[in-house]
Amino acid sequence: MPEPYETGRSRQRAWVEVDTAAISRNARSIQRLIGERTNLMAVVKADGYGHGAVAVARAALQGGAASLGVATLAEGVELRQEGIQAPVLVLGNLTQVEELRSCLRWQLMPTISSMREALLCQNLASGSGRTMPLQLKLDTGMARLGADWQEGPRLVASLRELDAIELAGLYSHLASADLPANDDDGLTHLQQQRFEQVLTSLRAQGLAAGCRHLANSAGTLRHRQHHFDMVRVGLALYGHPPATHLAERVPLEPAMQVHARVTLIRFVPAGVGVSYGHRYRTTAPTRLAVLAIGYADGVPRQLSNRMEVLFQGKRLPQVGAITMDQLVIDATAAPDLDIGGVVTLLGSQGQEQITPADWSARCDTIPWEVLCGFKRRLPRLKGGEEEWPLWDGGPAPKSVDGTVRAPSGP
Ligand SMILES: Cc1ncc(COP(=O)(O)O)c(C=O)c1O
Repeated sequence: MPEPYETGRSRQRAWVEVDTAAISRNARSIQRLIGERTNLMAVVKADGYGHGAVAVARAALQGGAASLGVATLAEGVELRQEGIQAPVLVLGNLTQVEELRSCLRWQLMPTISSMREALLCQNLASGSGRTMPLQLKLDTGMARLGADWQEGPRLVASLRELDAIELAGLYSHLASADLPANDDDGLTHLQQQRFEQVLTSLRAQGLAAGCRHLANSAGTLRHRQHHFDMVRVGLALYGHPPATHLAERVPLEPAMQVHARVTLIRFVPAGVGVSYGHRYRTTAPTRLAVLAIGYADGVPRQLSNRMEVLFQGKRLPQVGAITMDQLVIDATAAPDLDIGGVVTLLGSQGQEQITPADWSARCDTIPWEVLCGFKRRLPRLKGGEEEWPLWDGGPAPKSVDGTVRAPSGP
């Protein structure tokens, strides 16, 4: 008889299930919102916010994304090594000549915040006989990366003098677009105005800015005036609104579910302390189930005694300290949950849903951190597939593209 809440037939101890079709649908929904004249950049840094960068990149491109954003050189190279040819912008600052040389080699576009890196690129590219595209970032109020926005027109004019580089884009980053408009002290509006002021000045001087972009997920959902030529979307692509007041702007489907298997059932009397430090003590005879997942996989330890899991559409409480590789739940109300049974930590079953925002609200962080907290030691499996090869021993199979390969050799 099929289980009422089929969680696939993975035989892993725990895994992240990624619905790549949901990512494509989210990309399409966002593209509909921004319209045909604005491009979508899928931000796939931090291993695709924990979903697996390569699988996410492919799904987002299929859903209409025109380019990809990564934070580091290695993240960009990984996409290229897997055969992805779409334009890739490195959002972090690359400061060393070797890093910029790799950008040229792998056709990754660096972000620059000063003339220093622009001149390094100019030297590299003029020696190679190729033109190197790059993008200039301006700080309009975030005080992180980017040249001072007032410097924008002068910098663009200087960059245009360098014949071996191409200024392919000009951008800035919003610091508080996820706050309701009344709560951000006008900062988003101010950043928008400063960015526009630079663009107006460039137009007056007849200087082209290339692709102009400002908005992250929150800016994209907040107002179309933030869209310009392109939006850089991370969180919403994975199916999560950056704030509850922005949740209704576009239909989004969470792409990640996290499941774990029961490895032991214990019956204990009342008064038993559970896990390190006995931070939980049973108050009645209890059926405990041990799950093979812990904080080393990405379940925040701060959720100890403050989270639940789903089994057959019901919530079961987690009890005691979450440990590195395991956690314990109270399965008294679920007599059908046995050794080998699968529970859902993040995801939905029937009417019940547990989201990264539920977790982040309980441990004083943000959904972004919850998602990219899931480590590569948890296999990423593509949702909806029927069967997974089991690996027993040998090197962990490479699973970032959503497929699990059995170890080769005898
Ligand atoms: C420069 C830049 N653009 C866009 C994004 C995407 O942000 P979000 O996940 O909020 O859409 C990020 C992520 O932090 C970023 O650093």
